[in-house]
Amino acid sequence: MKVLLTGANGYIGRRLKQKLLGEDITLRMLVRNPKSVDATLDIEVVEGNSFDKASLRVALEGIDTAYYLIHSLQEHNYKELDKQSAKNFLDIAIEQGVKRIIYLGGLGIKEEASEHLLSRIETGEILSSQPQEIETLWIRAGVIIGSGSASFEIIRHLTEKLPLMVTPKWVTTLAQPIGVDDVISYLNASKDIKISGNLVVDIGSEIMTYKEMMLGCAKALGLRRWIIPLPILTIKLSSYWLNLFTPVPYSVAQSLIEGLSSEVILQNNHAKEYFPQIEPLPFEEAVKQSIKEMEENQVFSRWSDAGGREDIWQEKYSDDASSAILLDRQSLPLNGLSKEKLYDTFCSIGGKEGWFGYDWLWEIRGWLDKMIGGAGLNRGRRDSYKLRVGESVDFWRVEDLIPNERLLLRAQMKVPGKAWLEFKIAGDNLIQTAYFYPRGLWGRLYWYLLTPLHYLVFRNMIRAIIQKTKAYQQREK
Ligand SMILES: NC(=O)c1ccc[n+]([C@@H]2O[C@H](COP(=O)([O-])OP(=O)(O)OC[C@H]3O[C@@H](n4cnc5c(N)ncnc54)[C@H](OP(=O)(O)O)[C@@H]3O)[C@@H](O)[C@H]2O)c1
Repeated sequence: MKVLLTGANGYIGRRLKQKLLGEDITLRMLVRNPKSVDATLDIEVVEGNSFDKASLRVALEGIDTAYYLIHSLQEHNYKELDKQSAKNFLDIAIEQGVKRIIYLGGLGIKEEASEHLLSRIETGEILSSQPQEIETLWIRAGVIIGSGSASFEIIRHLTEKLPLMVTPKWVTTLAQPIGVDDVISYLNASKDIKISGNLVVDIGSEIMTYKEMMLGCAKALGLRRWIIPLPILTIKLSSYWLNLFTPVPYSVAQSLIEGLSSEVILQNNHAKEYFPQIEPLPFEEAVKQSIKEMEENQVFSRWSDAGGREDIWQEKYSDDASSAILLDRQSLPLNGLSKEKLYDTFCSIGGKEGWFGYDWLWEIRGWLDKMIGGAGLNRGRRDSYKLRVGESVDFWRVEDLIPNERLLLRAQMKVPGKAWLEFKIAGDNLIQTAYFYPRGLWGRLYWYLLTPLHYLVFRNMIRAIIQKTKAYQQREK
C-alpha cells in the first residue's frame, strides 16, 4: 500500500508518522519545508502545499490512501483557505486515482458549531462530496488529551496554576475527550478496514463536562482545585485569561473557547462497530500518560538522544508543553580538559566530597528535608567516585549514566514537584541543567523564590567542577 501523509509536521501528523513508519507500507509525505524531515528516515518527501496543484499532483501520484491533516487555524482567513485547500486536494486525488482519503476533523453538530468547528465540518463535507469517485473516511474527535495538544494544554495549565477558578458557564458543557495515542490507533487502522463508500466515525472516551475534566486533571496531578462557574464572563475575557495563564496563542485560544459552549459528544456508534479492537483509555489514565510523556520528552529522552537532525527539529517544534518544565541551564567550555577526567569529577558529587561549593546551603536543605519527613543528606553515597544507575547520592538518585558523557540525578528530597540535575558533555562544552516540573501554584512559587539561591549555587557548581578537573590534570602532569 502506498500512503501519503499530509500535515506531517503538525501535532497529529508527527505522531501518526512515527506509527506509519512501523507499518508495512510505502510512506510519502507532503511538507512545506523539507528541512523539517529527518533525511535518514525511510520516507519519500515531496515539497509543496495544497494551494499548489502541481505539487499535489506529484504528491498524490500512485497513492492508494491519503491522510488529510491540513488546517490553517493560525491564519485569520482560515475558513476560505481550508475550503480551497480541501477542494484542491479532492480534485487532484480523484485525478490521480487515489482510493481513499482519511480525514481527522472535530466532533460536534453543524447547527450548533462554532466558526472553527464549522470550518472543520465544511472541510469534511468537501472531502466526502464525490463518493462515486473516491471514498472518504472521516474520523471526528473532540478534546484530544496529549502533551502539546492546544485544548489539553489549556486544561492542564489552568488546573496546575490556579487553585481557585472562577470560570464562564462553558465549564458545564458536555464533551467526550480522547487520548492522543487512541486517536493515532484509529487513524492508523483506518487505512486497513473495509468500507463501501464514505464513513464518518466519531471517537471518544467517557462523557464529561469541562469542569469534570479540570477536576480529573487535578486528581491525576495530585492537586485539589475549586471551580466556581460565573455566567457573566465573556468569550473575549476568557481568551485573554487563557492567554495569560497558558502557552496557547490568543487567536487559537479564542477559536477554541468559542467552541466550548456547544456539546461535543459522539453522534454515531461506528467506532465500536468498525474498530472493536480499540478500547480508548479513560480520561484520567490519558492525562497521566501525557504527563509521563512530557517528562520523558523533555528530560529523559535528552539523555539518550544522538543529536541528529530529528532531535534538533524536535527541540524546536515539540515544545508547546515546554513552559511546564522550568530550567536553570549553565554552560562552560572545556578548554582542552579531558572528557574522562571531567566525567569523573562530576560523578564524585555529593557524600564526603560535597556539592562543589555552598555545602552549608545543601546542609540546610538536607536539614529542612528531614524536618518535613524526608531523608535529608544522611544517605551519603556507596562509593566516593563510582556511581551506578539507581543508587542514592544524598537526597538524589542516579537516574542515568553514559560514561564520559552524562550524569542524570533525580531529586528524592521533598519538593512541590519533580526535579532533576544533569551534567552533560556536549562537544567542547560542559552543560549543567537543573530541571523542575512544578506541582501547582506552590511548585512555581517555590522555584521562583529559590531563583537567587539557584543562581549562586548552580553558577558556582559548574565553575568548581571545571576548576577541580583542571587541578587534577595539572597534578597528574
Ligand atoms: N489537535 C487537536 O487537539 C485536534 C482535535 C480534534 C481534531 N483535530 C483535527 O486534526 C487535524 C490535524 O490537526 P493538528 O492539531 O495536527 O494540526 P496542526 O498541528 O495545526 O498541523 C497542521 C498541519 O497542516 C499543515 N498545513 C497547513 N497548511 C498547509 C497547506 N496549505 N499545505 C500543506 N500543509 C499545510 C501544516 O504544515 P507545516 O508543518 O508546514 O506548517 C501542519 O503540519 C485537523 O483537521 C484538526 O481539526 C485536532
